[in-house]
Amino acid sequence: MNPPSKRKCSDTADISEEVLPVELHKEKLLQVIRDNQIVVVCGETGSGKTTLLPKFLLDSNFVSPSRKLCVTQPRRVAALSVASRVAELLNTKLGNAVGYSVRFDEKLSSSTAVKFMTDGKLLHECLSNPTLEGYGIVMIDEAHERSLNTDVLFGLLKQLVLYRKDIKVIISSATLDADKFSAYFRGCPVFKVEGRLHDVKIFYTKQEQSDICEAAVQSVLQIHHSQPKGDILVFMPGVDEISRTESSLMECDQDLEIVTLHGQKNLDEQQLIFRPSSDRKVVLATNIAETSITVPNIVHVVDSGMVKEKHFESLNLVRCSQASAKQRAGRAGRLNPGICFRLYTSSIFETMPAFSKPEIMRTNLQTVLLLLLSMKIDIFNFEMIDSWSSDSFYSSLKCLYALGAVNKDAELTKLGRILVEFPTSPEVAKLMVVAMETKFLEQATIVAATVPEFSRISKHFRKAFSAGSNPEGDWGELISSFLYIKKSLKAGSSSSNRNYNKHLNSFKGVVQTQDQLVQLCSRLSKTICTTSFKYNPTTFEDCAKLSFPLKTADRNNDGTYTLKQDGSKALIHPSSVLANRAPRKIVYCDLLYTSKQFLLCCMPLS
Ligand code: CDP
Ligand code: MG
Repeated sequence: MNPPSKRKCSDTADISEEVLPVELHKEKLLQVIRDNQIVVVCGETGSGKTTLLPKFLLDSNFVSPSRKLCVTQPRRVAALSVASRVAELLNTKLGNAVGYSVRFDEKLSSSTAVKFMTDGKLLHECLSNPTLEGYGIVMIDEAHERSLNTDVLFGLLKQLVLYRKDIKVIISSATLDADKFSAYFRGCPVFKVEGRLHDVKIFYTKQEQSDICEAAVQSVLQIHHSQPKGDILVFMPGVDEISRTESSLMECDQDLEIVTLHGQKNLDEQQLIFRPSSDRKVVLATNIAETSITVPNIVHVVDSGMVKEKHFESLNLVRCSQASAKQRAGRAGRLNPGICFRLYTSSIFETMPAFSKPEIMRTNLQTVLLLLLSMKIDIFNFEMIDSWSSDSFYSSLKCLYALGAVNKDAELTKLGRILVEFPTSPEVAKLMVVAMETKFLEQATIVAATVPEFSRISKHFRKAFSAGSNPEGDWGELISSFLYIKKSLKAGSSSSNRNYNKHLNSFKGVVQTQDQLVQLCSRLSKTICTTSFKYNPTTFEDCAKLSFPLKTADRNNDGTYTLKQDGSKALIHPSSVLANRAPRKIVYCDLLYTSKQFLLCCMPLS
């Protein structure tokens, strides 16, 4: 990597004084929205689409508590953060005029007129409120991300606008997919918010880096020593890589303020990235900082070039797209000319795909199909902006059939109607339904609440237990860890270890989630007669087998496992407590594909 010469960067502007592009175009933009039922708004990241546009719509009386504006975000953490920002801009308490509603958490009141939601939450709301009664405007934000839920909402809104002439739809996007969106929405107008980016100098490494965490640390230190001013934003693929880089940087004992930003952060922790610091700030982030959350005062970007992407059943560590890399570099040039260090060679850049594949083409469709079937939508003729692959469509239907959620004619069953009520995957939902009215319900709800946090929990709390001896494998470890966390939180943090207390507190949300799942199960058990399903599990293992019918695997002589789902081979992930125990048969929750295919969060089966 060629080190840049030492030069003076101008002081970064104070964000409160910054005039954002959306502000400059306010009147014209409001007029286009007034005159049209659907509008596509696109503009550079950080131009104020997410935070200022909702404020203007409220100030100009486009919306009210009875004709709300709903703004969707693909990510939960972004929904919370932007809601809090807009409340701050309007000088109101979060939950009054501006509120949010995400899975397992909401802050709303009768005076809420602007409601930030995850796209998944709005999709779920369409079940009970298919005409979106109570909403005057729906703004689908971050549309360029093409999350599966966003794409499905597009399909529903395209139909809805035909018979709800009074509802408006705003599609907001960072990049210029605008024409594709416009064509899909019957040629609706596109409003471009012009804004400029400053030049960003790009540096590549000379050789491929084998350890991106180490390379990121070296890059940050090099910038810190050669550049006089400006915060540093580092793009890493996931939470694990962020933690490793954070630990190494802390060991270097530099006068740096290190903050992290990823999907598992709570609102208070996220706010740290917006707080000014006297030291140089280093923000270690996932691709959430690409467009969703604009980190202020960034002058230098370090890009690992990697991303964790869901590919059907597994989470894969892959190279990001060229479009992502450009967006990442652009973060350095928002207010001043900036620098971007790419931790890969220029020839690697040339081999990266131009754009990321929309999620709909690389994901499991079970949840979405279940939702659409519940809305009585013809899934065989649903018009999407890009259609799903027929392979994934049929393999998702096959899984739903194995679960008992649909019948042979792809019609929703009684069980399917119940599973759709849960804000979890259909498999985890079935685990709770099977365990309902049995002594395994608590275990089932704990597994449901903790599985998404598996890697974090096992990293921080595994050592608290007799590691590895739990007969229920990782599932058992999750349950013991959860009970330990819950007890410790109740008793109040007593450890003098600040880091430990920080980790403990970051699991408050998981405890709340489990509590809400218990309440949901109790509500549902009043309306459904689970005995009519005749499950009668006698062990927790029975519950697991019934709810993950295709996610089991058998050990081969060479120590690998053959997956029931597709006959492919995989290994138990080294992070599993079962990694050295090699049980004959297991059930797993997820797959991870790096150099090999790995099974995550496993429980042995007899
Ligand atoms: O949506 P878009 O990318 O167009 O921009 P935005 O998210 O509305 O951000 C506009 C400005 O608000 C940026 O300068 C952000 O850094 C700032 N902002 C902030 O200071 N605090 C937040 N919690 C969110 C945004
Ligand atoms: Mg935005």
